[in-house]
Amino acid sequence: MSRIPQHFINELIDRVDVVELIGSRVPLKKQGKEFKACCPFHNEKTPSFTVVPDKQFYHCFGCGAHGTAIGFLMEYDRMSFLEAVEELAERVGMELPREAQPQGARSSATEALFNTLSRATQFYRQQLAQSERAREYLKRRGLTGETAARFALGYAPDAWDALLKHMGQSELERARLLQVGLIVERARRAGADESSGYYDRFRDRVMFPIRDARGRTLGFGGRILDKGEPKYLNSPETELFHKGRELYGLYEARQASRTLSRILVVEGYMDVVRLHQAGITYAVATLGTATTPEHLARIFRICNEVVFCFDGDRAGRAAAWRALENALSQVRDGRQIRFLFLPEGHDPDSLVGEEGKERFEARVQNAMPLSEYFLKHLSSQVDMSTLDGRARLGELAKPLIERIPAGLYRELLADEVAKVVGIDRSRFTKSLGVDELKAPKSIKSMPARVRPASGGRRNLVRQAIHLLVHYPQIADSAPDVEGIANLDKPGIPLLLELLDSLKAQPCGTTGALLERWRDRPDVKHLSKLAALECHIPDAQGAAKELAGALRQLADEGAFVRREQLLSKHVREGLSEAEKAELQALLLRKPAARSP
Ligand code: UTP
Ligand code: MN
Repeated sequence: MSRIPQHFINELIDRVDVVELIGSRVPLKKQGKEFKACCPFHNEKTPSFTVVPDKQFYHCFGCGAHGTAIGFLMEYDRMSFLEAVEELAERVGMELPREAQPQGARSSATEALFNTLSRATQFYRQQLAQSERAREYLKRRGLTGETAARFALGYAPDAWDALLKHMGQSELERARLLQVGLIVERARRAGADESSGYYDRFRDRVMFPIRDARGRTLGFGGRILDKGEPKYLNSPETELFHKGRELYGLYEARQASRTLSRILVVEGYMDVVRLHQAGITYAVATLGTATTPEHLARIFRICNEVVFCFDGDRAGRAAAWRALENALSQVRDGRQIRFLFLPEGHDPDSLVGEEGKERFEARVQNAMPLSEYFLKHLSSQVDMSTLDGRARLGELAKPLIERIPAGLYRELLADEVAKVVGIDRSRFTKSLGVDELKAPKSIKSMPARVRPASGGRRNLVRQAIHLLVHYPQIADSAPDVEGIANLDKPGIPLLLELLDSLKAQPCGTTGALLERWRDRPDVKHLSKLAALECHIPDAQGAAKELAGALRQLADEGAFVRREQLLSKHVREGLSEAEKAELQALLLRKPAARSP
């Protein structure tokens, strides 16, 4: 079973916006306090799928499907529990607790590597503070001290052994520095002393730490201060650092704003830093590599819009097309991917410096949609004035469109291409092997239908649980009633446990409560009650209702206990403690009728 602590799930469900999450996959319409859609889990014409933001919960009156944000990802995207938690955590900027990290517990050896990287970051920062020349360089590039601090920029001194001397005293420490790529091993010479077997990888460079979601340094990019090759040097791939996965500036972007609605992907470290300084704090950069599908998957966990920004030169345009090719597998309905091309001779760093935040953001606003860039680029590859040329465009487009997952977007793009090529859409579609609009892959056999509320006899236990499921926050003010435990009725242990658990650790929403019970058989009952409408409109009313139900149950419990003790008294006699208890019970006034 999962080892993710309950309080983490609580907070996660609290922070996730279930409407936004589901809305990014299923078009939702607002209806009062709720949101409606045709159910993605069964076929229907009138919407009975309901998302209730207050409860962080969804359910379908038609087929009985229901659950939380976690449950939705598990059902709709077919994720495992852990994957769903990971995905949501990333979306809201929470770091999975260490014991829950997918690759098992982080070993202490890994911990030591993080520690080495952290100390190196500090060392480079100190060196920057002490180097007039490096500070001058950053100032000349328009960076303030505050920005340098925000990005933890540093300076690697112009020496072969500055870091080695500072941190590489023991063989163990040198091994760690080597492992994280901060020092390099020399070719061995007989008789040379131990520590001279290595040298610093980064020398005379401005150091840009690349940080993970928690802000821990994973690796560095380093820019040469003056002329020199290469201009930028990156840490090598290590067990902690994967260039195809990390994005420079993502940590800082998350720090600047909890909720990002858009991410701008630029090419360079300096671009990111300069954009952030100008107030465009949603800029990130790849680490000198092309954008990978993995990068995009990460971005789309955080927001639904990405704008790629490329320099206006040849290299920039080539990089843009490569980004498009890598992005196709990540295209989905509801996700926006656009391309911004800067004027020739400019990069974001120089442009934002020249024209400022507003004008730069206006460019971002007007960036070209993927479909437009797609057609424009392909059209420029062929001679559109001839039939042959247009047919060639169709051929070029085909394998690319096939990379897009089936869905509305793929359909529309295929439509566009067919229009441009000038052939009948259905023929083009057939040649593509593009499926006609299909229901999402996640349609599953219909879950069992939820039985309507049993109209019969009022069941107090069930009523109390129902109230707690809809308004978990009212547990706190529930009266402390003794005696309920004496009742031998179905649901009593669950009710008591709910009260205990919610008093000890409150839950804000129905969703959070269901997640707390996820791995328990009782969760079935709780989910059914959650999907059942609650006729009490607010928490205050619900609290009163709950208190009434509990008191009545307490009365029943007191009665049962009194009968037990009386019969025992007759049969075998009572202990002193039992006598006192019986006496108290005989004197007890019914709780339900007391004010
Ligand atoms: P650019 O050459 O466009 O540099 O490289 P820049 O970002 O404008 O840098 P400044 O303004 O001259 O300081 C863009 C990105 O490509 C990678 C780096 O990630 C850099 O930020 N790159 C570039 C390298 O990895 N190595 C290089 O030698 C050059
Ligand atoms: Mn530049």
